[in-house]
Amino acid sequence: MSPMMRIVLPALAVASTAFGIISKTATSTIQNSGDATALASCKTFSGSIAISTGTSDPIALDGVEKIDGNLACTNNSAIQSISGGSLSEITGQFLLDTVQVLNTVNFPKLATVDSLKWNALPNLQTLQFNNQITKASKIDIQNTQLQSLQGINIKSVDTLYIANNRYISDISMQLGNVTSSLTLEANNPEVNVTFPNLIWAFNMTFRNCSSVEVPSLESLNGSMGFYGNVLTSFSAPNLTKIGGALAFVSNTEMTNISLPLLTEVSANLQIANNTKLGKIDGLPQLKTIGGALDFNGNMSDIQIPQLNDVKGAFNLQSTGDVQKECDDFFKPLKNKGKIQGKFVCVGSVAKPGGEGTTPTVTGASAKKTGAASTLNVQSNAAMGLMGLAAAFFL
Ligand SMILES: *[C@@H]1O[C@H](CO)[C@@H](O)[C@H](O)[C@H]1NC(C)=O
Ligand SMILES: *[C@@H]1O[C@H](CO)[C@@H](O)[C@H](O)[C@H]1NC(C)=O
Ligand SMILES: *[C@@H]1O[C@H](CO)[C@@H](O)[C@H](O)[C@H]1NC(C)=O
Ligand SMILES: *[C@@H]1O[C@H](CO)[C@@H](O)[C@H](O)[C@H]1NC(C)=O
Ligand SMILES: *[C@@H]1O[C@H](CO)[C@@H](O)[C@H](O)[C@H]1NC(C)=O
Ligand SMILES: *[C@@H]1O[C@H](CO)[C@@H](O)[C@H](O)[C@H]1NC(C)=O
Ligand SMILES: *[C@@H]1O[C@H](CO)[C@@H](O)[C@H](O)[C@H]1NC(C)=O
Ligand SMILES: *[C@@H]1O[C@H](CO)[C@@H](O)[C@H](O)[C@H]1NC(C)=O
Ligand SMILES: *[C@@H]1O[C@H](CO)[C@@H](O)[C@H](O)[C@H]1NC(C)=O
Ligand SMILES: *[C@@H]1O[C@H](CO)[C@@H](O)[C@H](O)[C@H]1NC(C)=O
Repeated sequence: MSPMMRIVLPALAVASTAFGIISKTATSTIQNSGDATALASCKTFSGSIAISTGTSDPIALDGVEKIDGNLACTNNSAIQSISGGSLSEITGQFLLDTVQVLNTVNFPKLATVDSLKWNALPNLQTLQFNNQITKASKIDIQNTQLQSLQGINIKSVDTLYIANNRYISDISMQLGNVTSSLTLEANNPEVNVTFPNLIWAFNMTFRNCSSVEVPSLESLNGSMGFYGNVLTSFSAPNLTKIGGALAFVSNTEMTNISLPLLTEVSANLQIANNTKLGKIDGLPQLKTIGGALDFNGNMSDIQIPQLNDVKGAFNLQSTGDVQKECDDFFKPLKNKGKIQGKFVCVGSVAKPGGEGTTPTVTGASAKKTGAASTLNVQSNAAMGLMGLAAAFFL
């Protein structure tokens, strides 16, 4: 412990030095490479290590195998390199935030961290994590220039948030489950995402991805949403149940959704503004929707053959001709009370809208589609946003 005492510096350390000990909550601040070298004899460092904002030296924490606390470097505009040749575990947070010229993060043995939070690292392009981090409960990586997450290969996670990393070309991990949430957004719009072993997740949200593969996914405790992706199709061959909502919104290239074993969506099912999606026929087993069914877009073929229980509203508005589906399948379901909420089912709509909006049927087609549409429109018009809110909370 003695080498550490020398480098204990103001701020948080004051309280602990006053008592002559370094408590686990104390933070030791490293000012230069000499301070880092002085830690070499300390295999387990009890307490947190902070790299000072003014440090420009490369910091090598060689010799330290475990940090029983956090490792942090924030608001530093001069440091380029942080490394630790022996470090295998950080029991707290590995925090790198606003470190403008940092280009080397070299921890060849690091395998376990409690949480990893990296933000605003505009010069960080690659990681040197030869051993791979396989255990972390929280990962949050934003605003870096990382080209891949190679080196981060966790088996299970509480939250995973990867956003605004404009150069990441692929995100792939052995992840088996996600206990809270997984969110990927605004990374490289060409990013390919693969979680080959993922069995279940609480919530998952994908924005701006180019492909998403979850071949083993069986269930979600909560919700799953796809927004503004450029994926051409999405398939989850083993997915049977979604405990919350399922949404596909504004995925402009999407032509195919395939969920062959899905039987239940416990909240809303929304499929909206997927410009090229002409056909919805990939839900052959779907029986129950615990919230609203809300579809709008350019579909002309919609088949959900097993559907027999929609607890919320039903809104289907399409530019395409779906009158046959409305008349032959959905309307009878509504009449039998299998659709409990407000019912709108209209094709040839000029600007198809979401649940709660009033469809405007185009002139020529309006005559073709007949009075049923007009009736549906009327019943819906008054509900507005209130209707939508109600549908959400069902
Ligand atoms: C960086 O410094 C700014 C201004 O001093 C401060 O507001 C911010 O919280 C600091 N960020 C971090 C991550 O310490
Ligand atoms: C993602 O995969 C597609 C299809 O294989 C490929 O064309 C594209 O280049 C990949 N994206 C990146 C960023 O490598
Ligand atoms: C979560 O995934 C990990 C890795 O696949 C596995 O070891 C663990 O048993 C899983 N936990 C649950 C509750 O499914
Ligand atoms: C899952 O998402 C829902 C809806 O956004 C939210 O209310 C809930 O808190 C989330 N749960 C977890 C564990 O993240
Ligand atoms: C899908 O589920 C089946 C039956 O449980 C299983 O045998 C198969 O390996 C799963 N597929 C994948 C890709 O995990
Ligand atoms: C989520 O679902 C999985 C698989 O059914 C289950 O093992 C896990 O306990 C559930 N988690 C929560 C928080 O409900
Ligand atoms: C990312 O997706 C959002 C919708 O979730 C969309 O508004 C945004 O334009 C997309 N960004 C890019 C760069 O594609
Ligand atoms: C949609 O995707 C599924 C699963 O990948 C595939 O079997 C099916 O042929 C695709 N349908 C079309 C029309 O491409
Ligand atoms: C679909 O697009 C229309 C027109 O751009 C927009 O008003 C509406 O909010 C979008 N719907 C969703 C669910 O994003
Ligand atoms: C329908 O397709 C047209 C032409 O591709 C597109 O401009 C429009 O946004 C699409 N509408 C919806 C609701 O997806």
